[in-house]
Amino acid sequence: MVSEERVVVEAPQEVNEEETQDAEVILVLGANGMLGHAFRSVLRKAVFCGRQLDITKQDQISLYFNKLRPAIVINCAAYTDVEGSEDHRDYAMLVNGIAPGYLAEACEQIGAVLVHFSTDYVFDGTEQEYQEDDIPHPINVYGESKLLGEQNVMKRMDDYRIIRTSWLFGPYGKNFVDTMIDLSRKTEQVKVVNDQFGKPTYTNDLAQKTPEIVKKNPGIYHLTNDGVCSWYEFARAIIPNAIPCTTEEFPRKARRPKYSVLVNTKTDSLRLWRDALADYLKMKGREVHT
Ligand SMILES: NC(=O)c1ccc[n+]([C@@H]2O[C@H](COP(=O)([O-])OP(=O)(O)OC[C@H]3O[C@@H](n4cnc5c(N)ncnc54)[C@H](OP(=O)(O)O)[C@@H]3O)[C@@H](O)[C@H]2O)c1
Repeated sequence: MVSEERVVVEAPQEVNEEETQDAEVILVLGANGMLGHAFRSVLRKAVFCGRQLDITKQDQISLYFNKLRPAIVINCAAYTDVEGSEDHRDYAMLVNGIAPGYLAEACEQIGAVLVHFSTDYVFDGTEQEYQEDDIPHPINVYGESKLLGEQNVMKRMDDYRIIRTSWLFGPYGKNFVDTMIDLSRKTEQVKVVNDQFGKPTYTNDLAQKTPEIVKKNPGIYHLTNDGVCSWYEFARAIIPNAIPCTTEEFPRKARRPKYSVLVNTKTDSLRLWRDALADYLKMKGREVHT
């Protein structure tokens, strides 16, 4: 338990120079999101910024980075509404595509490492699995916007770690696990698609592994829990009353890749998603269904 040592900044202007001058400062952006919260429990000492620092405001970013001079910036901020991105293309492109370029430029100016999170949805899902250097080809606006973000980061700086991950679950977020539990209570049978495959990933595991990636070479990394499943198989592990259906039976605005299985060729794997899920469910007084 280390919370006493944590420096929490509630507004970009409030840099406490006494608290930050000696240490190598780590700045976490999007700290109130699902993944951002996981970093709160992993990092011993960091500056956590929520919405107060709007990543789409280039001047603010540049000013704040120059004032704080972090050694490492971990960007968890994003517009993650996959369906909403279809309706709000410009906004998705701004937050997920253009703003990461601002962060990269500001990091380059002060010599900071940028850790930027991206997604399996940069791929089209026509292959069964994807390695880090496979060519992305998104099939929805969210995926397009995240790909633009990757490109802008790579264009504007050298010392980046782009970490692609998938199917996140964890505390403090709207996630599939909690949605299944809610639906399971409200309806007799919960229909879940059984023809889209991926790798569920626990935010805590991802956050814990991130410092190790920072020590590695710049580049793109794939980081997920181990093991592949369909959304239905994932649901069955959470609730007893899931039943399988096809993507056609469950039409959505945004197309989803059929296979968005990220293969990690650069680091040790994380544990199996079932074991990670067991830990998450335990916090809720529940168990994995077999
Ligand atoms: N969730 C998944 O299944 C998944 C899968 C693959 C990859 N990823 C990637 O993993 C990263 C973390 O995702 P997550 O699930 O933790 O997302 P999340 O829970 O939606 O958190 C994102 C955070 O970013 C904040 N934010 C949005 N626009 C911002 C802006 N302009 N300036 C500053 N903050 C802003 C949001 O604030 P508000 O809540 O106020 O909007 C929210 O707190 C993202 O890069 C995402 O693309 C997620």
